[in-house]
Amino acid sequence: MTTTSFDVIVIGAGPGGYIAAIRAAQLGLKTACIDAWTNAAGGPAPGGTCTNVGCIPSKALLQSSEHYEHAAKHFADHGIGVKGLSLDVAKMVGRKDDVVKQNNDGILYLFKKNKVTFFHGTGSFVGGTANAWQVKVGEQVLTGKQVVVATGSSARALPGLPFDEDKILSNDGALRIGAVPKKLGLIGAGVIGLEMGSVWRRLGAEVTVLEGLPAFLGAVDEQIAREAQKAFVRQGLKIELGVKVGEVKTSKKGVSVTWTNAKGEAQTLEVDKLIVSIGRVPNTTGLNAEAVGLKLDERGAIIVDADCRSSVPGIWAVGDVVRGPMLAHKAEEEGVAVAERIAGQHGHVDFNLIPWVIYTSPEIAWVGQTEQQLKAAGRAYKAGTFPFMANGRARALGDTTGMVKFLADAKTDEILGVHIVGPMASELIAEACVAMAFRASAEDIARICHAHPSLSEATKEAALAVDKRTLNF
Ligand code: FAD
Ligand code: NAI
Repeated sequence: MTTTSFDVIVIGAGPGGYIAAIRAAQLGLKTACIDAWTNAAGGPAPGGTCTNVGCIPSKALLQSSEHYEHAAKHFADHGIGVKGLSLDVAKMVGRKDDVVKQNNDGILYLFKKNKVTFFHGTGSFVGGTANAWQVKVGEQVLTGKQVVVATGSSARALPGLPFDEDKILSNDGALRIGAVPKKLGLIGAGVIGLEMGSVWRRLGAEVTVLEGLPAFLGAVDEQIAREAQKAFVRQGLKIELGVKVGEVKTSKKGVSVTWTNAKGEAQTLEVDKLIVSIGRVPNTTGLNAEAVGLKLDERGAIIVDADCRSSVPGIWAVGDVVRGPMLAHKAEEEGVAVAERIAGQHGHVDFNLIPWVIYTSPEIAWVGQTEQQLKAAGRAYKAGTFPFMANGRARALGDTTGMVKFLADAKTDEILGVHIVGPMASELIAEACVAMAFRASAEDIARICHAHPSLSEATKEAALAVDKRTLNF
């Protein structure tokens, strides 16, 4: 066995880990990053869930399926006829795999460029003491003054229903279905349920989503969630709320799910495949966290403080394996902040300003507080909305669903939340993040010149609406 010493060892090369490793190396720290993900050829595939079976491949398939739906349903509106439209699912999935590979290779290149030493394998704690933690990977034992755990999360299965990735699919299987299923079921109308449901519906599947909660997208601003729900139902997505899922049986033919609806009536759903998207669980198996006494909470997440310090001095944890939203950009921000803290700097993450995006069509994006949160907190606020229907660029695009909504403090006019459902909401939300980071008022946005014609004019108009003075509606 060889032993190698590092200033920082990062376990996991998802967005939390690989970014932490790069930032640590940039700051002059001798850094190692260990990652277990293996591609089909047996080689390393850094990038974690996000790159391999999450953000990137889902967006590749969302894009492809959107092109297909446009060609099938919307090109005609533009006077474009398409004869003999066909679909090659294998090619579409192959393109998605190529996009994933480009990202894997990009991270390996970035490790080389920044002089991060990469180890392919499972990293597990052996023991050690403060300033000399030992982590085993393969036959090697690495010693690190500091260790950053960024081991991510995995799909949560229904009790007694393990994923077989053939008929009972996690996000992994949902991203590599070989042919469009005639009938597709999803359990959980959360982010994955809606994104994956959209992909396969656009490609021709009859999609039914069974959601346990009575409210649709409970964490989203209610007005925005209602608007989105209407759009999804119009598109043909069947969404059943307040359901209780009973027995799930697989057979050669497919999957049979018994469930009761919100009225308590017994129902059966017969589908070819079932995606279970009911949340994710932190990954700590294989880590041997006990060897160093890392404390975990009841969900199995590593307990950390607001600065990502674990219960053990010199061991940090970031991303999906700790508390907070399971988002790639949240993991990245924590990774950068931890590397900077290790280097003696003042890393900072503003947990109130982490944007959310659901990449359906219409897209849903928000930052800050929802109207229901402000009401519950008893905060006096003003609201302003502007519909894309009244935006020239949206009309030209042929995509006028949705709105931009501003929530601002009743007295100071400080922006407290921005909520968007509509075209390119994922890009539009960045302006709101910048504005809120600088504690801008709605009036600040309303006074800034926005290019015409652009979707961002809807943002400006929603800011004007806070003061009841929209110009185009
Ligand atoms: P991960 O990305 O899970 O990476 C952890 C890495 O650690 C993995 O490579 C794993 O193999 C490795 N690992 C685990 N244990 C060990 C060990 N003991 N030794 C060595 N390596 C180990 N978020 C967004 O912000 N935007 C999106 O659009 C988005 N889309 C998503 C779509 C889907 C279908 C899914 C499932 C998730 C999506 N997410 C999205 C969430 C996002 O993927 C996660 O929040 C993000 O990947 C978390 O990053 P991480 O670095 O904490 O962990
Ligand atoms: P989720 O938490 O978004 O949604 C899970 C849904 O399943 C919830 O609505 C929940 O009420 C429901 N549910 C739970 N148990 C149930 C049961 N037994 N029966 C019926 N419904 C049940 O989780 P999801 O969709 O699995 O995604 C996991 C996480 O991955 C997300 O929370 C998000 O952090 C991340 N993600 C982010 C994306 C993005 O940023 N665009 C895209 C996809 C995932």
